[in-house]
Amino acid sequence: MLREVTATRYIAPLRSGGSVPGVVEADDLGTYVVKFTGSAQGRKALVAEVIVGELARALGLRFPELVLVHFDPAIADDEPHQEVRELHSASAGVNLGMDYLPGAKDFTPEIARHFEVDPLEAGRIIWLDALTVNVDRTVHSSNLMVWPTFGTVPPRLWLIDHGAALVFHHRWDTSDPAKAYDFRHHALGHRTPDTGAADAELAPKVTEELLRAITAEVPDAWLLDEPGFATAEQAREAYVGYLHARVQASASWLPTDFPTREELAAEEALRAARTQEGRPNWLKRVPDLHGKPAAEQDWSVHLG
Ligand SMILES: Nc1ncnc2c1ncn2[C@@H]1O[C@H](COP(=O)(O)OP(=O)(O)O)[C@@H](O)[C@H]1O
Ligand SMILES: [Mg+2]
Repeated sequence: MLREVTATRYIAPLRSGGSVPGVVEADDLGTYVVKFTGSAQGRKALVAEVIVGELARALGLRFPELVLVHFDPAIADDEPHQEVRELHSASAGVNLGMDYLPGAKDFTPEIARHFEVDPLEAGRIIWLDALTVNVDRTVHSSNLMVWPTFGTVPPRLWLIDHGAALVFHHRWDTSDPAKAYDFRHHALGHRTPDTGAADAELAPKVTEELLRAITAEVPDAWLLDEPGFATAEQAREAYVGYLHARVQASASWLPTDFPTREELAAEEALRAARTQEGRPNWLKRVPDLHGKPAAEQDWSVHLG
């Protein structure tokens, strides 16, 4: 079961994404990113957050703890923005919280440039996204975080934000569980992801039993207004049935056609050549350091 906490202090809204989650402190002294039931994305986004996030965790991927947060809008009385205040008052009651990773950085193209990702880890993440039809893990909106960024533990990749996954729950009747996944803009597509190894490792783990345990974590209230289903239990069964059918059809949606190391190297060489071409003659002798500081900028070399 997801733990339950009560928000005791409102800290700030997070405006970088689309759903304007809020950061709160709770009665267990933890800090959480709260996704509100009253947001424009609606409760389905929260259902997707729970199912995909807990599936990621069950498959061994790094994903912060989820909790149910009791939220009283009165604690955020000093929030100045009217639209955020309205979001809060539409969200009194139980909302979804995610453990806040202090100091975490979004995996932006700039951060990504200096961050190694193991091909098997990249393969596992893309595999999960393809299984759960997550359309929101692209180069420019990676929904991946690098954490920790200080202290003694080396930084690792963490998954966040699965609100835009499970797109099939917007069209239950016409959605085909064997449909291919569009991975062209995936944030990890250029990391030579080993999706074949990920499929062999992860597909057998996604059993109906696991899917039932995961969908049981979704509060009834978020499933009850799902058209076409009389009860929350029926809606849970639809998620279990769809995801189980999809995992068995992995051969038809498994993305494999990623650029190889050689293709990436050739692309990089072409890019470097183009940069060189556009330079005046005197600059052509300056090595292309791809953003790394030249030795002259590193003052330590002059300090004996
Ligand atoms: N658990 C977390 N710890 C630290 N920062 C987070 C966490 N979750 C989200 N954030 C920050 O908030 C931003 C928006 O959160 P996200 O879950 O992606 O919501 P949205 O649905 O608005 O895109 C993220 O890009 C990230 O910068
Ligand atoms: Mg996001």
